[in-house]
Amino acid sequence: MAKITKRGRTVITCIVLLYVVLSFRLNSWKVHSGFYKGFKTLLPTTSDVKNVNFKQFQAENLREASVTSLRSQLALQFPYDTSEPIPKRVWQTWKYPLDSPKMKAEFRMLAGRWKDAVGEAPLYEYALISDDHMMPLLRNLYGAVPQVIQAFESLPLPILKADFFRYLILYARGGIYSDIDTYPLKPLDSWPSISSIGDSKIDSAIQYKGLRSVSESTVRELGFVAGIEADPDRVDWNEWYARRIQFCQWTIKSKPGHPLLRELIINITATTLASTNVKSSIEAPEFIIDEDHRSDYLINCRDKRRFDDDFPADQKKTSKNVDGTDTMNWTGPGIFSDAVFEYLNNLIQTNLDISIINNNMKASHESGTQKFYRKITEGLESSATFVKEFFTLIEEPVVVDDVMILPITSFSPGVNNMNAKSDDDEMAFVKHQFTGSWKGKEPKKKKPPVNKQPPVGK
Ligand SMILES: *[C@@H]1O[C@H](CO)[C@@H](O)[C@H](O)[C@H]1NC(C)=O
Ligand SMILES: *[C@@H]1O[C@H](CO)[C@@H](O)[C@H](O)[C@H]1NC(C)=O
Repeated sequence: MAKITKRGRTVITCIVLLYVVLSFRLNSWKVHSGFYKGFKTLLPTTSDVKNVNFKQFQAENLREASVTSLRSQLALQFPYDTSEPIPKRVWQTWKYPLDSPKMKAEFRMLAGRWKDAVGEAPLYEYALISDDHMMPLLRNLYGAVPQVIQAFESLPLPILKADFFRYLILYARGGIYSDIDTYPLKPLDSWPSISSIGDSKIDSAIQYKGLRSVSESTVRELGFVAGIEADPDRVDWNEWYARRIQFCQWTIKSKPGHPLLRELIINITATTLASTNVKSSIEAPEFIIDEDHRSDYLINCRDKRRFDDDFPADQKKTSKNVDGTDTMNWTGPGIFSDAVFEYLNNLIQTNLDISIINNNMKASHESGTQKFYRKITEGLESSATFVKEFFTLIEEPVVVDDVMILPITSFSPGVNNMNAKSDDDEMAFVKHQFTGSWKGKEPKKKKPPVNKQPPVGK
C-alpha cells in the first residue's frame, strides 16, 4: 500500500513538473509566434513620453494589436517584480573566456578577485561572458524581442556592443555588472541598502510639488544602483567631460526588468536600427518609427548637428564613421547619464508618492551639495526637475524611489579629483584600473588638473 502511494506521488510529481515545463514553453512559444503574424514593431522615442508614466507602465496585449511598441514587448518579456531582492549575481564580459591562454594575466587576476568576493558571500553566482557566448545568450534571452537582437548585431564597433550588452544582461537577469578592469574593495553584501542609510531617512525626505514629506511606507527596497563617474564643479567642465554630472556604467547593480534600463534599451535599439543598415540573423517583424520625431532617431542628429545643414545627418553609421562622442551619446556614459536623469524626472513628474532622500542637503552636512540648496529646491518645486547639482559633491548615497546614486568615491576612489576620497574610505566599493582604455571610449578624459578646482561654477 505504502509503496503504491509513494509511486503514485512520484507519478503525480512528474506530471506536475511536465505541466510546468510545457506550459512555460507554450507561453513563450505563444509570445514568439505572435510576432510573425503580420504585426509591426513601433520603436518609441524616449524623448517624447508625455503620456507615459515609466513607473506604472503596463504592457498592452500584444496579440491583439497590429502595431506593438517595443516598450510593451520588453515589459512583457521581463516584468518588473519590485518585491524580489536584487539577484546575487556578478556579470563580467571579455573577448576571451577566463581559462583562455589569450586572457591577459592581469584581467584573470582581477576577475579572480570578483570570484573570491562571490565565494565569500553566501548564494552569489559569478559569470564571465566571452565574445563567443554573447550572441547565443542574447538570442536565448531576447528571442521574443527580436528588434533588440537586430540592433545588437547592427552596432558597428565592439565597444558599442560591450556597452549595450551590460544593459541587456542586467535587464534580463539582474545583479551586478562590472568591467573586466575593476575589482571589489569590500564584501558584496556590504554595499549600501535602504536600511543602511539609517533612521534619519524620513526627516531628510525632500518635498516636491508642494507635497508634505513622504511617509515611510513609500520608501521601497532598492531596484537600481549607479555611481557618479564625473562631477566637474567648474565653469569649463565640458572641456573635460561629456556631461556635467556623468554616471558611471563600468559598474551597475540592478533588478531584472527595471524600467530605467528598459527605457535605455528602447533608446539604443531605436537609434541603432534607424542609424545603421540592419543585417539580421533572425526573423523579426518590420519596425516603424515615430515620424514626427524623426531626427531623434539619428545618432548623427544630437544637439547642434541637427541644425547644421551641411552635416550628413542621414548618413548611415558604419565602423568607419563613428567617433568618440558618438560612442558617448549612442551607448556610453553620455546616453546612460541622460537615461538616469530622464527616468528620475519622469518619476516625479508623473507620480505623487516618490520618496526623495538626499542627506547631503542637510545644513549640518559638510559636503558641498548644500550650497546648491536653492537651485535644487527651485528645480523641484517649480518644474519637478532634478537639476544636475542635486548630485554634485555628494558624500552619502542619494535615493529617489528605488534608485540609489552613490558618491564618486564608491566606484572611483583615489582618482585625486572631484572630491573623490581614497580606496580605504567607507564609501569605496569598486576600484577601476582604467586599463580598458584600449576601448578608445574616453574621448574627453584628459582629466582636469589634479586638485586645482577653480572657483565654483555658476
Ligand atoms: C535617445 O535619448 C537621447 C538623450 O535623451 C535623445 O536626445 C534622443 O532623442 C533619444 N532618441 C530616441 C529614439 O529615443
Ligand atoms: C552628444 O550629446 C550632447 C548632449 O546632448 C551634445 O552636447 C553633444 O553635442 C553630442 N555630441 C554629438 C557628437 O552628437
